[in-house]
Amino acid sequence: MTETAPRTEPIVLVEDVHTYYGKSHILHGVTLHVQPGEVVGLLGRNGVGKSTTLKTIMGLVQPSRGSVRLDGNAITGLPTHKLARLGIGYVPEDRRIFGLLTVMENLRTGLDRKGVTEERKAALLDKVFTYFPVLAERSNQAGGTLSGGEQQMLAIARAMMLEPKIILLDEPTEGLMPRMVSQIRQIIDVLHREGVAILLVEQNVPLTLEASERVYIMEKGLVCHHCAASEINVDDPVVKQYLGV
Ligand SMILES: Nc1ncnc2c1ncn2[C@@H]1O[C@H](COP(=O)(O)OP(=O)(O)OP(=O)(O)O)[C@@H](O)[C@H]1O
Ligand SMILES: [Mg+2]
Repeated sequence: MTETAPRTEPIVLVEDVHTYYGKSHILHGVTLHVQPGEVVGLLGRNGVGKSTTLKTIMGLVQPSRGSVRLDGNAITGLPTHKLARLGIGYVPEDRRIFGLLTVMENLRTGLDRKGVTEERKAALLDKVFTYFPVLAERSNQAGGTLSGGEQQMLAIARAMMLEPKIILLDEPTEGLMPRMVSQIRQIIDVLHREGVAILLVEQNVPLTLEASERVYIMEKGLVCHHCAASEINVDDPVVKQYLGV
């Protein structure tokens, strides 16, 4: 599906990306963009290539064709750590927090980088502890002892330590209890208010439609539909066709 060109320079622009795992052709020409400060949902059934799209943006898999741009600059093929430094935050499906490190040590892994003053570090920690008071309470506890929802918060908070321009969130509410889901939902709003763009991969359709400004729907390695989130609702035929069980 072709997409109309964005009006201003997107923070992330993915164009005609093809990605393989070995000989399996997974992404068949994915095109999407996220504007600065925009929350964009990426929906689709299991196995359609949502996580692979995020991994391709994040340099964890290399596309065989197509390009990824950050702020207008080609970033295709750059290593993940460089992309993180350039302003892309990534919270993978499995969260990847350090289970044996304390909450504080987990957060510090994102802070110990060049050019960040002690004052700035303290301010960043202060900010996440305000947003996630439970992390302040548990700052000396090993990450692995946190509940699933708390680990998700820690993963998002750690991504925030790098002061990203955009965060790629891969199914942040998967497997969480309803109370935790609404907390994650609030965090998305907080990030949005702070001007951080978000590309939100989710299976939770109502939450995604509510939290996002635009949504893309994928099927079989391609974007098959995109629209303003306000244009569709959970009962829409499009939702039934591409996301219904
Ligand atoms: N490392 C891998 N090696 C080979 N095939 C893979 C690998 N990772 C994913 N795949 C396959 O690629 C396809 C897309 O996977 P992907 O994880 O991107 O889907 P998804 O949309 O994120 O699905 P889910 O909703 O289950 O997370 C699936 O068929 C999957 O089995
Ligand atoms: Mg996935």
